[in-house]
Amino acid sequence: MSEERYLTFALGKGRLANKTLELFEQIGITCEEMKDKSSRKLIFVNEEKKLKFFLSKGPDVPTYVEYGAADIGVVGKDTIMEENRRVYEVLDLGFGKCRMCVCGPASAGELLRHHERIRVATKYPLIARDYFYNKKHQTVDIIKLNGSVELGPIVGLSDVIVDIVETGSTLKENGLGVLEEICPLSARMIVNQVSMQMETERIRTLITQLKELCQEGSK
Ligand code: PRP
Repeated sequence: MSEERYLTFALGKGRLANKTLELFEQIGITCEEMKDKSSRKLIFVNEEKKLKFFLSKGPDVPTYVEYGAADIGVVGKDTIMEENRRVYEVLDLGFGKCRMCVCGPASAGELLRHHERIRVATKYPLIARDYFYNKKHQTVDIIKLNGSVELGPIVGLSDVIVDIVETGSTLKENGLGVLEEICPLSARMIVNQVSMQMETERIRTLITQLKELCQEGSK
């Protein structure tokens, strides 16, 4: 029986994983081991339901899922777009909502409007490249940073940034604003392409239960 096989979940460490576990608890999937914050264990098992969970860096989640080391992953849409792995995106979990935007000082609005060759600092070079080259048909220079991207325009590294905006307070506190919106983001469930064929029933049931829960939540 297919119930014999473990289904393995890769969760992006941090807030996303905590929210995911809260959601799973509501459909009866629990993993007590994972709640022990002092534990240094990396992988947690629910023997009864034959489930395994592990926490990884967000950008590694699609990698684990593509290669089948995890059957299922939960990660932000930004990471899915940037990593561009061969996985099925099956469900919008409705939390972790934010937006991918082009941001900068108000003065950079002119440069964008005139399709100037500007410098764009970002943690998301693939998303930035796709937006400027394929959607806007604007040639830009993309500079990869690893965090605190808002510094880019402030210290004169770049004209604008492409980054996640949630509340907008980081931008505001640094004298920057949203200039263009690229797309909305939220947490998504992704599935390995082979697992989807081999474990169709278990995965479909899980998707249906989570979908119902998300719809309840958004009512
Ligand atoms: C993210 C993002 C922005 C900030 C947006 O950074 O890169 O800097 O959150 O949130 P806000 O609109 O609510 O202010 P994160 O905290 O992940 O750190 P990072 O700058 O190191 O990427």
